[in-house]
Amino acid sequence: MSRPSTPNELRKAWQHFFVSKGHTAYPSASLAPANDPTLLFTGAGMNQFKDMFLGKGSHPFTRASTVQKCVRAGDIDNVGKTLRHFTFFEMLGNFSFDDYFKQEAIEWAWEFITSVLELPPEKVTVTIYRDDEESFGAWKKKGIPEARIHRFSAKSNYWPQNAPDDGPNGPCGPCTEMYYDFGPGTERGDAGPDDLDSGRYLEFWNLVFPQYDRQGKNDLKSLGRRNVDTGAGFERMLAVMEGKNAPFHTAAMRPIVDAAAMALGAEYGGAGGRDALVRRVADHVRTATMCIADGIRPSNEGRGYVLRRILRRAIRDGIGAFRLERTFLHEIVPAVVATMKDGYPDLVAGERDVVAAVRAEEEQFRTTYAKGIRYFEEALPKFRSSGRVPGDVAFKLHDTYGFPIDLLTQIAEEEHRLTVDRAGFDVELEAQRERARAGSKMAGDVFATGPLGELKARGAKPTKFLGYEGCEAEGTVVGLMRHQPDQPLGKPDLLTSVEPRAMTGYRVSVVLDQTPFYAEGGGQVGDAGVLEGVNGDGSFRIGIRTTQSQDGISLHVGTVESGSLNVGDRVTARVDRARRDAVRRNHTATHLLHEALKRMLGGHVRQQGSLVAEDRLRFDFAHGKPVTTDELRRIEDSINGWILDNTDVGTTVMNTEEAKASGAVALFGENYGDSVRVVAVPAVSRELCGGTHVRRIGDIGTFRVTSESSVASGVRRIEAVTGLGAVAAANADRDRLREISQLLKAPADQIAVRITSIQEELREVRKQQERAAADAGAKLGERLAGEAQTVGGLRVLVADVKGQDGKGVKTLWEALAKAGVDATFLVGEAGDKVPTLCGASASAIKRGLDCGALLKVAAAVLGGGGGGRPDLAQGSGLDRTKIPAALTAVTEAIRKTLGG
Ligand code: SER
Repeated sequence: MSRPSTPNELRKAWQHFFVSKGHTAYPSASLAPANDPTLLFTGAGMNQFKDMFLGKGSHPFTRASTVQKCVRAGDIDNVGKTLRHFTFFEMLGNFSFDDYFKQEAIEWAWEFITSVLELPPEKVTVTIYRDDEESFGAWKKKGIPEARIHRFSAKSNYWPQNAPDDGPNGPCGPCTEMYYDFGPGTERGDAGPDDLDSGRYLEFWNLVFPQYDRQGKNDLKSLGRRNVDTGAGFERMLAVMEGKNAPFHTAAMRPIVDAAAMALGAEYGGAGGRDALVRRVADHVRTATMCIADGIRPSNEGRGYVLRRILRRAIRDGIGAFRLERTFLHEIVPAVVATMKDGYPDLVAGERDVVAAVRAEEEQFRTTYAKGIRYFEEALPKFRSSGRVPGDVAFKLHDTYGFPIDLLTQIAEEEHRLTVDRAGFDVELEAQRERARAGSKMAGDVFATGPLGELKARGAKPTKFLGYEGCEAEGTVVGLMRHQPDQPLGKPDLLTSVEPRAMTGYRVSVVLDQTPFYAEGGGQVGDAGVLEGVNGDGSFRIGIRTTQSQDGISLHVGTVESGSLNVGDRVTARVDRARRDAVRRNHTATHLLHEALKRMLGGHVRQQGSLVAEDRLRFDFAHGKPVTTDELRRIEDSINGWILDNTDVGTTVMNTEEAKASGAVALFGENYGDSVRVVAVPAVSRELCGGTHVRRIGDIGTFRVTSESSVASGVRRIEAVTGLGAVAAANADRDRLREISQLLKAPADQIAVRITSIQEELREVRKQQERAAADAGAKLGERLAGEAQTVGGLRVLVADVKGQDGKGVKTLWEALAKAGVDATFLVGEAGDKVPTLCGASASAIKRGLDCGALLKVAAAVLGGGGGGRPDLAQGSGLDRTKIPAALTAVTEAIRKTLGG
């Protein structure tokens, strides 16, 4: 194979070389890691092989090589400033899963760079972990002089960095890195000759030997396996091949940089000093393109949030440094696709979608930004004299408008010569954080010190939940708390006291040692029902409205309906079964909806919140646009199809790691304990969930969407009903249809036709009405024209016209002007309106008539006001009893002017 010279030749040469060494060429994993919600992005080639390093599961190969798409946000502040940091990059990797080890890994790395890339051996310098003699020996054997084998600590030569002491848990081990020496004269002024971070050297390949499973600080468990995880920076390798320490200027990146410069209207490499920003924009658009193509959408959560921040940073550069008023970011996307498509052919089909998403995000951000600027500019005069934007204004911009402080500082300084009170801003920010902390602490305190705290202090333990098995169980009352009489039930902070006994009429929260009542949680409402029993006073009954949980203690919230209840009493707890069944149907249906949305709209659909009640379900999820009627229909159809399949719903309790490995959906950011419950509908959905579910999905009966709406930017909401609720919704629709059909006197399938014809009829009637009104106006105009008097040689009409509104008097005036009346003053009367109008011909104006002035004369009598041009003025008066007086005053004024 000849020496690769283009980016795609390098990708192919890599795979080809390692396949010849017995590796399986494996595809890149998605940037959104599958089954690993703990990881924001795929950031290394090894991510998809974690289990194989740990020896979990069985796999068909023990050697693999990949070209992996990676996103790392950790270096984001350096991106653009240097020629070698990116947020997106590709990583070439070869991996051994308890197969070959250090000798072979080093041997093949050396062979690849000297024989395939034909790099001069003397240009390569390596580093090893302190006392890794095996790697040292292997490099020496390749002829690298000892002076070019540097020994370093865990800070740089352990992966993940600092792992024995301080890194993340999981597979880790010592590493050896390869650096390319671009020769003297390329180092930074302040760097010594051995400084590998001097700019003279470029690290381009890291060979990691994950021998350990890190389980805590300095707690390494030997895996007893010989693993290799190598990662070579693709753009860096290209830079080395091209002999320039400038990954940003290689064929994998330069066309994107040029496209960014073009979109920004900047000259790259010119005198403007803005090259770093151009590079940053280029990098960010490349990252966004690759992420969106992998189904990640800008949002306010998780990886979508990181993507949003990356995009917004690039937009801000465009707005701030380059003063671009148009959306520009999407213009760079085609260059990314053209540059990357050889390695990632799917990008071509996805280009339009990416362009649309990037553009939508920029439009949205610009709207927010414009509102912020408006607020800032309106507030400007207040602080111009002090020359300083106060901290609270800066904070409001940040908090309410999402306006970044650095951008505000830039605008204030550059455009208004103002400083920003940064310290004041920080104080406000800290105060807000404090408020948030206080808010959450307060909630905690209620339970530390209130009646619940008292109960806990007396030894109350988390309530044992028996409700997965059934709706009825025996329990013992271990705590009783009374509610304030006039306050709503269900607010634990309104519990007033711990009581030994509760009498008829008391509003209480009852704590049992065990219960079949499900306490509100995971979006599912709490169970309702009754607690019943017999004690020394006879029988008692407590109606339970809902059940809540605090720190695992279930509070049965309700009222003592008869008898009395004591701590220590045995009770039979009966959940309202019909209500529970309705809730179960809605809960399982929520899982089906989540899955159907994913399948229909894409993997980016992520749950943002849910409500599972007895009468409906509500599901909020990340999605950038409305779900169309057609999509909703298909979602409904597939859910109803699953329901008809009537599969058993399986629930298992398993270890969290196992659950994730088995593909169960774990919600991002939620903290699960050591063991979790997995609710599975075979071949359809698996979710970690503590809620109550139907036994077979056929129990759901039927599923019907009732609404689709937006709750926040990028978040949609679907509401739906199931079972008898769905039947009721369908019946209600049918009744409505019947009513409409009766009103229209048309059978249901003719309704649309009938409505269209009614609309046409209506349009026709309106037209006729307008024509009739115009005719009547013209006739009235003619009659009035006949009443015009001659004043000073011109024809003048001053009149009141009952029944005419503003539009009417205008039409009349038009008719009068046409009929040759020179000066017109009209007062209409319609409802409570008294419209006035004054019009004058050119000859009247020449003789000194001014309509605006005449209208004022009228207004002085009628009250009200108005105004306009010399030839036409309109207004309205207030006091209709003064109309005759106004007419006289205006006539007088006209006579005076025209001298009649
Ligand atoms: N996992 C190592 C890295 O990311 C080598 O692939 O650097």
